[in-house]
Amino acid sequence: MRWALLLLAATCSTAELQLQQPEKVFSRPGVDSAGGCSSLLLDTGAASLYVGCRGYLAKLWAYNINDTAENVATSRTFAVSNREESECRTLASASECAPSVRQLFLRPTAETLLVCSSVALKPELRVLDANKLIDKEEPRTMIGLCSPDARVNGTAVHVEWGNPGDAPAFYAGIRTGMAGENHLIYRPALMDGGRESVAAMRTIYTDNTWLNEPQFVASFDIGEYVYFFFREIAVEIGFAPPTVFSRVARVCKKDMGGRAVLRNVWTSYVKARLNCSISSRFPFYFDHLQSVSRVELEGDTLFYASMSTSDSAFPTSSICVFSLSSIDQLFGHGLFLEQHTTGVWLPAPADSVPSHRPGSCSANSSSLSDNDLHFAKSHLMMAEPVPGGVPVMPTRDVFFHSVLVDVLPEQNVIFAIDHRSGSLWKLAHWREGGDYRWSLLQKNQLEVQGRIMASALLPHEFLYVSTSASTVGQFSLAACHLHSSCHSCAIDPFCSWSSAGATCARREKAKGTGWISSWAGRGWSECASAAAVERTVYLGDALHLEATRDEETKEKVWTKDGRVLSRSDVVIDENGGVVIMNVQKEDGGEYMRGSSRYRVVVDTECERPTTIAGYHSAHREYCKEMRSAKTMIDQWETCSEARGITPSANLV
Ligand SMILES: *[C@@H]1O[C@H](CO)[C@@H](O)[C@H](O)[C@H]1NC(C)=O
Ligand SMILES: *[C@@H]1O[C@H](CO)[C@@H](O)[C@H](O)[C@H]1NC(C)=O
Ligand SMILES: *[C@@H]1O[C@H](CO)[C@@H](O)[C@H](O)[C@H]1NC(C)=O
Ligand SMILES: *[C@@H]1O[C@H](CO)[C@@H](O)[C@H](O)[C@H]1NC(C)=O
Repeated sequence: MRWALLLLAATCSTAELQLQQPEKVFSRPGVDSAGGCSSLLLDTGAASLYVGCRGYLAKLWAYNINDTAENVATSRTFAVSNREESECRTLASASECAPSVRQLFLRPTAETLLVCSSVALKPELRVLDANKLIDKEEPRTMIGLCSPDARVNGTAVHVEWGNPGDAPAFYAGIRTGMAGENHLIYRPALMDGGRESVAAMRTIYTDNTWLNEPQFVASFDIGEYVYFFFREIAVEIGFAPPTVFSRVARVCKKDMGGRAVLRNVWTSYVKARLNCSISSRFPFYFDHLQSVSRVELEGDTLFYASMSTSDSAFPTSSICVFSLSSIDQLFGHGLFLEQHTTGVWLPAPADSVPSHRPGSCSANSSSLSDNDLHFAKSHLMMAEPVPGGVPVMPTRDVFFHSVLVDVLPEQNVIFAIDHRSGSLWKLAHWREGGDYRWSLLQKNQLEVQGRIMASALLPHEFLYVSTSASTVGQFSLAACHLHSSCHSCAIDPFCSWSSAGATCARREKAKGTGWISSWAGRGWSECASAAAVERTVYLGDALHLEATRDEETKEKVWTKDGRVLSRSDVVIDENGGVVIMNVQKEDGGEYMRGSSRYRVVVDTECERPTTIAGYHSAHREYCKEMRSAKTMIDQWETCSEARGITPSANLV
């Protein structure tokens, strides 16, 4: 538990919030900017950024979205007929009836852009030329792909290969029905030459063990499967109160449903809980999935998922990483849960699983036996969750509404954005031995107009955000000029520090001698030998001096002004860093441990607060963080107690 506290406390002390201005801005021309731009789709190969707004679609050049010259950018508008509009207005407001782009899909081989919009409360699919944005076919109404209701959290993926008859298909996590009461994982009917070749496929929406009020977040086409990520109300924990779990589910693309049992219903649907938790005797869970980003690495696919403690205004958020191999391993070999007559869910014995294991793909699902299908229908939940590793950057009172990942040689760089505040966290995430480690590189405030609605990332180059004010901002991933110290600059894989000029510049521009380039896994030892890091603290503050990650270091003790640090009440963190509580005047000086060097200046001008109120008004990052970590632990303990678990005496 103490480890978790330190981890939470340490998160805020390294970087401060800086304003990051966009390199380029795109604003939708004309006066009607209401409704905003809620979809972004990047075609990395063609360096095209598609922007979907209310009644408007644009294709921009990803390297300069401000360049709207005809040879690089195109746009078009969508209208609704007067008749449709007046019919719709009897049911809904003008803004709800207006045509609005919901989802964009690219078929690169066909140079086709598929656009699902809500038009007069009807979902409409358009097939456009991906370059000119002109219609290739008549638009058609398509139920079960995108929702007319902008608030519904849906997901959909277009799958080109591997479907029955090799027809292209959509797979969607969606709500249907008059009041959106039906929650489905759905594949609209497959078409072959204008005729329906395979009927639409779905989950059983009357059975809440299949889906229980899900909020869909993402979907991916991988190999012979389609994966869905969502959160839902857990049924397997049985007793009150309702608890949200996050899930990954999987279906086979070749699935055509059963013949009698599970007719037009997935025979291959399986799902598992996502375990994103701070491990301790009573793990602290992040159960509300917010966004997922897929990363292809050599040998495996990773899903970076942002998860929070709740949907409410005061969550704690974090990022966990789930690997495709661990998901597939679980679906392929794990135990299934089954519900007993008492209502209790228990793992089904391994020898009760029939030879056609639920979740496995069959060449012809209509030839499966009724027994196999009955078993699959009631055994679709795995007993074990998928492990999400050590949560990255647990942070209070924020949502990571989007996570985007740039894959670099020694590490992955995570960009997490809170859409409400426009805050951006840039984090290094790398493998060391069997574990992943992380480190905060920058925390910036994106300068945007309105609320962020969507985001996209062009590898090694730019981050884009679209907003409710119908603008798009193009931000540099590097943002080197915002680093003011050698140690924060040198470990940022996009940047290098010039020791001569004391400036931070883009790494590819750092040619010649005198540049320091490191990375978070190695630390900033070159900086430390160049100069001590200066830290100013106020009397009464807590001070956290981080240790350089430097395996060479033999001398593992901290010295102050050349003598072994003698204050008895210091705390050493898990990386060897030192925390000094209640800093006094005599704590100023030179601190060293191996290549970590700090010059600590104690500001005595500022009075040390003597009352609780004084502390509260002081707004000092560290104290604030310690306080929130404590609150979080208190809450969690209350929670554990409420569930009948008694915290043991040795907890903090
Ligand atoms: C966008 O382009 C216009 C016209 O070329 C120019 O005046 C403006 O400064 C540019 N803005 C940005 C943010 O690049
Ligand atoms: C969609 O998800 C967000 C949080 O991710 C939540 O605030 C919102 O209520 C959800 N929408 C609906 C209709 O439940
Ligand atoms: C989730 O993972 C944590 C940390 O590895 C572990 O302690 C906990 O038991 C797991 N939870 C479940 C439900 O398996
Ligand atoms: C699948 O199996 C069913 C029943 O055994 C059979 O009628 C049907 O023709 C088969 N379909 C294919 C595509 O092989």
